[in-house]
Amino acid sequence: MRSEIRFLLNGKAQHVSGVAGDVTLLEWLRGQPHLCGTKQGCAEGDCGACTVTMARPDAMGRLEYRPVNSCILFLGMIDGSAIRTVEGLASPDGKLHPVQSAMVDADASQCGFCTPGFVMSLYAAWQNGRGLSANEVDTTLAGNLCRCTGYRPIVDAATALDHGRDGDMAKTDMVKEAAMLAALSSAKDHQDDICLGDEGAQFIAPATSANFAQIYAKEADATIVGGATDVGLWVTKQHRKLGTFIWTGRVAGFDQIETEGNFMRIRPAVTHQQFLHHIADDWPECAELLRRFGALQVRSSGTVCGNIANASPIGDLPPVLMALASKIELTKASKIRTLDLENFFLDYGKQDRQSGEFLSAILVPQGPAPHLRCYKITKRFDQDISAVMLAANLHFDDGVITDVCLAFGGMAGIPKRANHAETKLAGKPLDMAYFKAAAAALRDDFTPLSDMRGSAEYRLLTSQNLLIKYGLELTSSRQMRLAGADLAAGLEGWS
Ligand SMILES: Cc1cc2nc3c(=O)[nH]c(=O)nc-3n(C[C@H](O)[C@H](O)[C@H](O)COP(=O)(O)OP(=O)(O)OC[C@H]3O[C@@H](n4cnc5c(N)ncnc54)[C@H](O)[C@@H]3O)c2cc1C
Ligand code: FES
Ligand code: FES
Repeated sequence: MRSEIRFLLNGKAQHVSGVAGDVTLLEWLRGQPHLCGTKQGCAEGDCGACTVTMARPDAMGRLEYRPVNSCILFLGMIDGSAIRTVEGLASPDGKLHPVQSAMVDADASQCGFCTPGFVMSLYAAWQNGRGLSANEVDTTLAGNLCRCTGYRPIVDAATALDHGRDGDMAKTDMVKEAAMLAALSSAKDHQDDICLGDEGAQFIAPATSANFAQIYAKEADATIVGGATDVGLWVTKQHRKLGTFIWTGRVAGFDQIETEGNFMRIRPAVTHQQFLHHIADDWPECAELLRRFGALQVRSSGTVCGNIANASPIGDLPPVLMALASKIELTKASKIRTLDLENFFLDYGKQDRQSGEFLSAILVPQGPAPHLRCYKITKRFDQDISAVMLAANLHFDDGVITDVCLAFGGMAGIPKRANHAETKLAGKPLDMAYFKAAAAALRDDFTPLSDMRGSAEYRLLTSQNLLIKYGLELTSSRQMRLAGADLAAGLEGWS
């Protein structure tokens, strides 16, 4: 095992060891190298003040610059990547980077707390050569909050950026960083497992799936970490001591979406952003939902498997993947079993997962799903968690519904299908009368809770209205949306 991580920081090679396993990237940046331009606002992934970029070579050796929230990213997770902070944008002679100049020219540099994060989100988009058209600016900046409400000049700065003029600079920087990263580690280094810290807080990053399965089978009490967009908060907000935690992100092949027969096989380290790119054409509804999943920083780190494994009753993907009749694969050492996703969630906080088992893949049937609809109800459009979520899917033949799945989030202690409502639709003509009967039957399916996101009455009425809306959309072939009506438009450049 290697007890040292290697990465590039603002273009310079770093070799770091002797740190606690649960130190976050933000803590380390502001501590040892004293790069205090990156700020801590919320320490929970919401405000974007701590945004830095992280780039790792893809299979073609190209670097994808991901904006990430350094406050909830463990330091060990940056091994083998190129990190850039706001201090690393201007050239050594002090000449500002084009995104910084655009911010100055538009009078968009406001308080010193949020500005570095905005600049880094713009830098990631600019460096990737996208994300700055008028349509895309909201998506680019949704994860950066400005408390003084000065968004307009920032949006002006973003739209004024001329990537065509400065695009060569981005390419040159990318090629230089990719070459430096290649020189940083030998092929043998990539096969080493990594271990940082000690028993108090030990971060283990296995390099192969066999090592991962073996280590976890032995350390069954360890916490698995995917993107740490949940687990990071256990440390920064709940001050929990994690003991040993094992990261999926360094395992060769775990970041892949593969094809297996008629299924798409989503491996443990596949991020929401990767998944969004992959499914945007076939399932625009699901892509639109993903566009509203956290914000770019959260989607760039958070994994699809993490969203299933945490089994939150208000997680967005469990209902959608249930509506698509997905399965999951669980692995313990060399033993593998597969089960229908809907049977994984047993009760609040309880899943059909044995000690030492981990989620090794999600299997989603491939192909178009023309009647899939996803409705996410939140208090604000971007970067918010659902109060109620419906993912509905059905097939019909000769005007008769042959197969239906209505999967809800926020209505019970687990993501759950509405069996009574489904019975009112299965085998019936595609007619509003049956959707109304199904909506009424939701009372028999759910006794929702009241909490800060919504009262029980609100949740029940909203779920009924969503089902009526689904019926109206299918029977009239029209989408009834206040936002996201043109589902493809906001995704331009992201797929
Ligand atoms: C600002 C913010 C906004 C968010 N917005 C949304 C949102 O809009 N919708 C939503 O649904 N969620 C949202 N989340 C929650 C979170 O981003 C998701 O649940 C995410 O998918 C978790 O994935 P992760 O890889 O980061 O999981 P982690 O934090 O790494 O892990 C989460 C849980 O899953 C377990 N785990 C992870 N991978 C595996 C595996 N392969 N096998 C077994 N167990 C595993 C971990 O042990 C842990 O219990 C948000 C979070 C933040 C911080
Ligand atoms: S400090 Fe708010 S997202 Fe990190
Ligand atoms: S830029 Fe910091 S509050 Fe607006």
